[in-house]
Amino acid sequence: MKIILKVLLYIVLGILALCISEMLFFFILIHSNNTEKGNKTVIMKTDSIAHSKALVVYQPSLMTDSTKNVAYDLAKGLNSKGYDVTIAYPGKYLSTDLSTYKVVVFGSPIYIGQTSSVLNDYIKSVNNLKDQKILLFVTGGADDSEQLNSLEKLFTNAEIPMKISFKYNDKGNENKAFNLGSEIGKE
Ligand SMILES: Cc1cc2nc3c(=O)[nH]c(=O)nc-3n(C[C@H](O)[C@H](O)[C@H](O)COP(=O)(O)O)c2cc1C
Repeated sequence: MKIILKVLLYIVLGILALCISEMLFFFILIHSNNTEKGNKTVIMKTDSIAHSKALVVYQPSLMTDSTKNVAYDLAKGLNSKGYDVTIAYPGKYLSTDLSTYKVVVFGSPIYIGQTSSVLNDYIKSVNNLKDQKILLFVTGGADDSEQLNSLEKLFTNAEIPMKISFKYNDKGNENKAFNLGSEIGKE
């Protein structure tokens, strides 16, 4: 009887430890998604004489790189159409005057039904978004993401942006993002 109780106690403690570590894991991921990652700006230069400018702002992840990969593939597509593409993390360090860009892309992963609050705050802070082409993208487990509609609502003064969701483990993402980038990059 004593042994059975002991085994039961170990099982309960094991389940408890599992629940706590899972909650901790979730907490760390969500916290990371809502934390500024500092100034990391990469510029993809073009040889084109036109030198149109595009900006891709995305929230990077702690664990995997789905959002980063989509951001870079979109940037490569835009670059192939003659754009100098600036790729940056959202945050207070980033200029809120985006008037020099012809195309602006915003992207975030979805964790527990939420896009990154850092990206949301950045979108709310930007101005001079009147004539640009705007693309919103999210990466997540779902095919279609209602979070895109929430992101869209943050644009009060700009034109309705284009929206697209990427399933994080989809092998076609690379082509999909590149093609979309070059499509948007067309005059
Ligand atoms: C703890 C956790 C919660 C998640 N919650 C959602 C969710 O609510 N909706 C969704 O579509 N995807 C969800 N996902 C899937 C992530 O959004 C997906 O892995 C995303 O592509 C990660 O992007 P990243 O690699 O840039 O971090 C979740 C993943 C994890 C690990």
